[in-house]
Amino acid sequence: MRHLMSPLDFSVEELDKLLALADDIEKHPAKYAHACDGKILATCFYEPSTRTRLSFESAMLRLGGQVLGFSEAGSSSAAKGESVSDTIRVISCYADICAIRHPKEGAPLVGSTKSLIPVINAGDGGHQHPTQTLTDLLTIKQKKGRLDNLTVGLCGDLKFGRTVHSLISALVRYKNVKFVLISPEELKVPSYIKEEVLDANGIEYKEVEKLEDAMADLDILYMTRIQKERFFNEEEYLRMKGFYILDPKKMALAKDDMIVMHPLPRVNEISVAVDDDPRANYFEQAQYGVYVRMALILTLLEVQV
Ligand code: NCD
Repeated sequence: MRHLMSPLDFSVEELDKLLALADDIEKHPAKYAHACDGKILATCFYEPSTRTRLSFESAMLRLGGQVLGFSEAGSSSAAKGESVSDTIRVISCYADICAIRHPKEGAPLVGSTKSLIPVINAGDGGHQHPTQTLTDLLTIKQKKGRLDNLTVGLCGDLKFGRTVHSLISALVRYKNVKFVLISPEELKVPSYIKEEVLDANGIEYKEVEKLEDAMADLDILYMTRIQKERFFNEEEYLRMKGFYILDPKKMALAKDDMIVMHPLPRVNEISVAVDDDPRANYFEQAQYGVYVRMALILTLLEVQV
């Protein structure tokens, strides 16, 4: 039995297979419509979510399976003081696979240790978000046709943004991927990622503060929201909020074939005027999240179609 805690839990070859499966699911959905008949997915969400939870549920329903779960800690026995590992141990009697999101880093991993079913980390605090990374890799593959030879700009809250942390760890395994890390001083990529992931793999990167200084070089611009809920005080958040706003003027500095991605939700870091730019890909990215989660469920449940 396999769990998914980090994008590195899959080898590059396994990821290639998973992305190819997601592509086939997109092209031939009918082939997979009953692949998970009789199977149940549990979604245990201790933190707010729209896309991750609903795309997981949509994925399982589109595979013919069923779903159950809770969308806030207050409506589960966590409110009575139950531990995550007890909850997941019990959920594994009710479902065949489980996706869990939790504000505490490492909680899904703890939950997986006592689980009888595959557990998927659907986001743990400011740490990792591997299924968003699968979504991002599929989006890049489909839109750019490759996962190597890319200059990737990551912009916004690179300190608390778990999607950024997972995406960096996944992309360093491909050839000639360079990063431009665009953030205010206070929200830079944590040093453990710079040392253990970027430097350890000899990856070329630079850190800049102004989006304008990076635009022209990028093949991908990955925007992120300032992670309000992870700030220690409101004042600090208010100072950072609005630091970056991608607008048509800044888009004019970018390559014609650059793509803009965002895990969403967007707050104000991308002006709605950018939505109609053909380079804006964030809503399609959310759609890819369903195909890739379908592929992931099939893979972890070892369903052959
Ligand atoms: C992200 C998350 O939860 O980390 N959202 C998502 O899953 N698409 C990004 C965010 O909340 O900013």
